Amino acid sequence: MEVPDASGKAPLISPSSPLSGTADTLWLEKYRPQRLDDLVSHREIIATLRRMLANGTLPHLLFYGPPGTGKTSTILACAREMYGEHVPSMVLELNASDERGIDVVREQIKTFASTRCIFAAGPSVKLIVLDEADAMTPVAQAALRRVMEKYTANARFCIVCNYANKIIPAIQSRCMRFRFAPLCTEDMVPRLRQIADAERVQVTDDGMQALTQLSGGDMRRCIHVMQSTSLAAPDHRVTAAAVYTNTGHPSPQDLHAIVEALWRRELGDAYRCVAELKSDKSLALTDIVTGVHDTLMRTDLPVSAKAFLYEELANLEWRLASATSETIQMGALVGAFRLAASLVPDAPEENGGGAGRSRQRQRLAWMLQRGMSSGTRISS
Ligand SMILES: Nc1ncnc2c1ncn2[C@@H]1O[C@H](COP(=O)(O)OP(=O)(O)OP(=O)(O)O)[C@@H](O)[C@H]1O
Ligand SMILES: [Mg+2]
Repeated sequence: MEVPDASGKAPLISPSSPLSGTADTLWLEKYRPQRLDDLVSHREIIATLRRMLANGTLPHLLFYGPPGTGKTSTILACAREMYGEHVPSMVLELNASDERGIDVVREQIKTFASTRCIFAAGPSVKLIVLDEADAMTPVAQAALRRVMEKYTANARFCIVCNYANKIIPAIQSRCMRFRFAPLCTEDMVPRLRQIADAERVQVTDDGMQALTQLSGGDMRRCIHVMQSTSLAAPDHRVTAAAVYTNTGHPSPQDLHAIVEALWRRELGDAYRCVAELKSDKSLALTDIVTGVHDTLMRTDLPVSAKAFLYEELANLEWRLASATSETIQMGALVGAFRLAASLVPDAPEENGGGAGRSRQRQRLAWMLQRGMSSGTRISS
């Protein structure tokens, strides 16, 4: 792993030859932000934290938000800025891999929080980072609230989690809350380019678009997929096709073909078409369901059909998460589209329909085509 330079920053420009060291070095760790300046998003949060660090008025903190948005990196960067070389003695970091039941709260956390550590320069208040705190039991959390209050003079807590609602209200009310939203494409792309340049990996524009689209604002996923794709692709180029092949995720073209078949074809035909595509490209039904959902958002289908399909897709996703049979759920997917078509006034019906129905069918197909090829962004 790369050693941070004197400024404390992990060097972005690596002297390595193309792809050298990539097999045994995780870019995620190599390029983990070391300082607040290295974080590429959440500017308001960073500015607020900076002000509090400068004034020495850091309260207890609660960081929450989806994975890979920089929560852990941010608090660790804060710790480095606050304590510099004294981090090991001033910061207690516990994550889900550590035991954090009530005994640890009573002993380890309480012991650390109850003692003061004074050194020549810098703050004397310690920092306790409870990462992935949504995995702590309510009993352990309940024990924590008293410790938080009693030792405020000695220590500040930073509770880090994905779901704030899994933290008991008493702890929430003792903390200043910061929500880490998924990163936007504009913030992610320059950072990804920096990493790709430092690793001398070629990422095409469509490859970059595929990376950011697939990640859904999860920077960890982006970096990870970029590294694995560069290693897996025969020419080490990160193209959209290589990204989709590497992740096994359906490409926009695959999804286009699937939605077309689901909406336009008869039940048996649509089922066969989706099944073939799924087996040819080794696609997972969960990814198809997610992709179909995103594709539907960009179509101009009638509201009633869309509303019905959104609900059905949500149910499908839930059922698939409970490890049900993919074959049966694929039937449900095809069936949902047939039913959605029947919700539309004068919609096409299986085996026939009048001229009006056929016109309506053509119109919907045209609308679907136009919506999907317009390239409009998902407005989630
Ligand atoms: N805002 C950011 N700026 C730069 N890099 C980031 C940012 N957010 C995440 N990353 C990258 O993603 C990786 C994971 O970030 P981090 O561990 O901080 O995420 P997290 O929000 O704590 O996720 P989780 O909820 O899964 O613990 C980091 O190593 C870093 O490379
Ligand atoms: Mg984390």
